[in-house]
Amino acid sequence: MPSLFDPLPVGRLRLPNRVIMAPLTRCRAAQPGDVPTPLMAEYYAQRASAGLIISEATWIEPQAKGYLWTPGIFTTAQRDAWRQVTDAVHAAGGRIMCQLWHVGRVSHASVLPEGMVPVSSMATEHEAHTFALDAEGKPGRVRCTPCRALTFKELMSVPQAYGHAATQAIDAGFDGVEIHAANGYLLEQFMNGVLNTRDDAFGGSIENRCRLVLQVVDEVVRLIGADRTGIRLSPHGQGIGPRPDPEWEPLAMRLMRNLAARRVAFVHISDHTSKTIDSPHRELWRAMRREFGGAFMVCGGYTHETAERELADGVADAVVFGKPFISNPDLVERLQRGTALAPWDQATFYGGDHRGYTDYPRAN
Ligand SMILES: Cc1cc2nc3c(=O)[nH]c(=O)nc-3n(C[C@H](O)[C@H](O)[C@H](O)COP(=O)(O)O)c2cc1C
Repeated sequence: MPSLFDPLPVGRLRLPNRVIMAPLTRCRAAQPGDVPTPLMAEYYAQRASAGLIISEATWIEPQAKGYLWTPGIFTTAQRDAWRQVTDAVHAAGGRIMCQLWHVGRVSHASVLPEGMVPVSSMATEHEAHTFALDAEGKPGRVRCTPCRALTFKELMSVPQAYGHAATQAIDAGFDGVEIHAANGYLLEQFMNGVLNTRDDAFGGSIENRCRLVLQVVDEVVRLIGADRTGIRLSPHGQGIGPRPDPEWEPLAMRLMRNLAARRVAFVHISDHTSKTIDSPHRELWRAMRREFGGAFMVCGGYTHETAERELADGVADAVVFGKPFISNPDLVERLQRGTALAPWDQATFYGGDHRGYTDYPRAN
């Protein structure tokens, strides 16, 4: 029976343990240009004992940005600045993949290039908020700008944008990429049947709703290889925006068959229901894991005890921790030794300086 501290092959990597650091947006990229900084390199390197680090969500083209101060992987300056992060993580003995992000409709005109509005599967006004500039130009929580639907022709270039970003990530020294298809962002806005009622080849049936995400996977795999490509999904539309999709289960199983055929390195489930109780979705995950056959990771509210149980029960091959990694750079060592975990401070999650970022101490 595997434990959190056993190695795990993931694509071309061999992870030394199964404690994975979740993608965590921290809004500390340098301005102008949304480029990674030496402080970010220090933060990630402090957490290098994770079996694998998945970077904060990183936008793949200007249209893909939704929040202030989040880094991109689109420009040459961004790519070159990420190199200091990947070098620092590797020098500290770690592994890091880049989470590729297109927010779709979860955006605001103030963070997009002049004249652009957010895009999605459908033109909608919705309740979601993002972190952008308010009417007075001050940073804060603002309601998303109404979005327009991507045209059929425009959709042809979306996989290319992911492909370009994936190539940039490899050139920046990342060990691979995670395609962000979770939490209500663009790719989920296409998968979700309640939201996506397009009448072209990208909407309607389950097959059509999976088309964009699979085209993205194909392009990324073509350019950097399946063994450096993973994907994050969130069950039942729990993310920002779309309502739960009653067809999520058959859609998920179809995706698993397709991802298995492409032999991608891992599938990562972001779940928001496992915080205090057993997730009602564990049986589905077990079925998805069987269908996929590769490394299967789960995230959301885990403790040492519940994480070990997921491995023992065959629900997952590795467990992903978010907030615990914010306040415990040495999370792996603490779990291994049974040392108490430090609490996180929500006030410093997004934006600011080293406080609440690189100043959480290691134990002892
Ligand atoms: C500060 C913060 C930033 C986050 N940023 C991202 C992100 O960039 N990409 C993503 O897929 N999920 C993001 N999430 C969700 C986490 O990856 C994770 O799913 C969530 O925190 C639940 O896991 P936990 O209970 O171990 O923290 C974020 C969560 C937090 C708290």
